[in-house]
Amino acid sequence: MAQIISTDASSLQQAANALSQGKLVALPTETVYGLAADATNGRAVAGIFSAKGRPHFNPLIAHVANIDMAARYVQFDEVSRRLAEKFWPGPLTLVLPLREGAEIHPLVTAGLTTLAVRMPRGPVAGIIAALDRPLAAPSANSSGRISATSAQAVQDDLGGKLDLIVDGGACVVGLESTIVKIDNGQALLLRPGGLAAEEIEAFIGQPLHRLDQRAAIQAPGMMASHYAPDAAMRLNVSEVHEGEALLAFGGQRVAGADKAVAVLNLSPSGDLQEAAVHLFDYMKRLDAVGATTIAVESVPHQGLGEAINDRLARAAAPRE
Ligand code: TXA
Ligand code: MG
Repeated sequence: MAQIISTDASSLQQAANALSQGKLVALPTETVYGLAADATNGRAVAGIFSAKGRPHFNPLIAHVANIDMAARYVQFDEVSRRLAEKFWPGPLTLVLPLREGAEIHPLVTAGLTTLAVRMPRGPVAGIIAALDRPLAAPSANSSGRISATSAQAVQDDLGGKLDLIVDGGACVVGLESTIVKIDNGQALLLRPGGLAAEEIEAFIGQPLHRLDQRAAIQAPGMMASHYAPDAAMRLNVSEVHEGEALLAFGGQRVAGADKAVAVLNLSPSGDLQEAAVHLFDYMKRLDAVGATTIAVESVPHQGLGEAINDRLARAAAPRE
């Protein structure tokens, strides 16, 4: 099992040392826990793919300590820079052209000429600053499984495959970052996430173009089946069937809720931010009950509801 350490100064130094030696370290961010490695070290980055059991070399997000560090590796257009200034540190990832000769290992970009960058909130920025190199970090879960929002969830899933987990407590956002790419002046939403699309649209004064989900996979994390529990998932239910567990939302229960083998409510008051924080944890907990199906009440689509519904749809998608 991995050693779980705290976020005090000497623990963060221990994490930075391990990373500089090419080791894998799980780190807390405001979105989800990340499985981090030095983005300039190909062997270390390859270790991420084998620990996660990722079948394909999907590109990874490079986590930076600040905008200046990002600018060493990518070229900012004006809109992207304004977005970074406004929303970093925070749950926003920007896909930008890689600078020529940038020392990011090609496994991080999967050979693309762009790099996804973000500055996370929390103690990780300090680790990255100490290292003075970006960290490649996908969510700290086995490929296709539910993302981890606590140190214990990382330990349960990947503990045998890494050395260190920095325990920063439960993630305050609970959903992966929103991914945006500015392409010829057009703003593309590559993945809905922990920063509501409406907030970005209001700030840049233009709509975000949603990609056709079936189009070429621009953000390969957008594979149909993802975040999958062992149980089947049934969405937008109007009633609970015998033997199902119920993932509820809001103050009104659907018919048959009393029959559910277990019920967890994402947010009794109907608050989407609270629902985001609980989503992955509650999916795991209901899965652990052993019900063959998790019935899910409908969740509104506005604000963070877009990303919540995206993750639920992937969890419910036919398995590969
Ligand atoms: O909140 C988050 O974003 C978390 C934390 C740990 O930072 N990370 C995360 O990483 O969700 P991951 O690897 O699970 O998802 C990264 C996403 C994938 O969908 C990938 O396809 C996309 O970023 N991506 C990475 N580089 C890209 C690029 N150059 N162009 C387009 N999409 C890219
Ligand atoms: Mg992931």
